[in-house]
Amino acid sequence: MAKRHLALSRVYRLLEPGPVVLVSTAARDRPNLMTMSWHTMMEFEPPLVGCVISDRNYSFELLRKRRDCVINIPTARLARQVVGVGNCSGRRVDKFARFGLTAVAASRVSAPLVDECYASLECEVIDTRLVATYGFFVLEVVEAWIDRAVTEPRILHHHGRGVFTVSGKTIQLRSKAK
Ligand SMILES: Cc1cc2nc3c(=O)[nH]c(=O)nc-3n(C[C@H](O)[C@H](O)[C@H](O)COP(=O)(O)O)c2cc1C
Repeated sequence: MAKRHLALSRVYRLLEPGPVVLVSTAARDRPNLMTMSWHTMMEFEPPLVGCVISDRNYSFELLRKRRDCVINIPTARLARQVVGVGNCSGRRVDKFARFGLTAVAASRVSAPLVDECYASLECEVIDTRLVATYGFFVLEVVEAWIDRAVTEPRILHHHGRGVFTVSGKTIQLRSKAK
C-alpha cells in the first residue's frame, strides 16, 4: 500500500465513530438539540457513554446545569435536519420548531425524546471529572427506547466537513462475545 502523509488536523476524519446522534437537553424556556458524533461506549451494563461536547455549545451549559440528556439516533432520512441542528445554536433558535422535530416527554430524565429518531437513550451525567479539560461527559443510560419496525437502520457516520457514510449491508458472523 502506498501510504502518504496525512495532516494531523484530518486524523479525526478517519476515526469518527458514528452513529451521528441528536442530543436533546432541557431548559427553562424550551428544550434544545445538538448534533454529536464524538462519543464512545465505555461499559456494557449499566451502559456508559463518554462524549465530547464543546463548551462553546449551548448544550454544554444545559447539560452541566440539568445533568441529563437524551441521545437520539436518527436514520439517513433525517440527514438534512441533522446537519441543520449542528449548524445553529439553541441560544437563538428553537431547533425543534425550525427543523420540524417532535419533543416527547422522557420517563426518567428532564430532556425530551425526539419522536422522529428510531432509538432514544435517556441519560444521566455520572462523571464530570474530564469536562474542564476535554469537555468529556460520562453518561449512564437509564432508559432506552427503540422502534423495532426499523430492522436495518441506515445510520449516519460523519467524516467531517459535511461528509457522511450511510451504513449499508449488515452481516452476521459467529461470535462468542456479546
Ligand atoms: C455532523 C456533526 C457532528 C458534530 N459533532 C459534535 C460533537 O461530537 N461534539 C460537539 O461539541 N459538537 C459537535 N457538532 C457541533 C454542534 O452540533 C454545533 O456546535 C451545534 O450548533 C451546537 O448547538 P447548541 O449551541 O444549541 O448546543 C457536530 C456538528 C455536526 C454537523
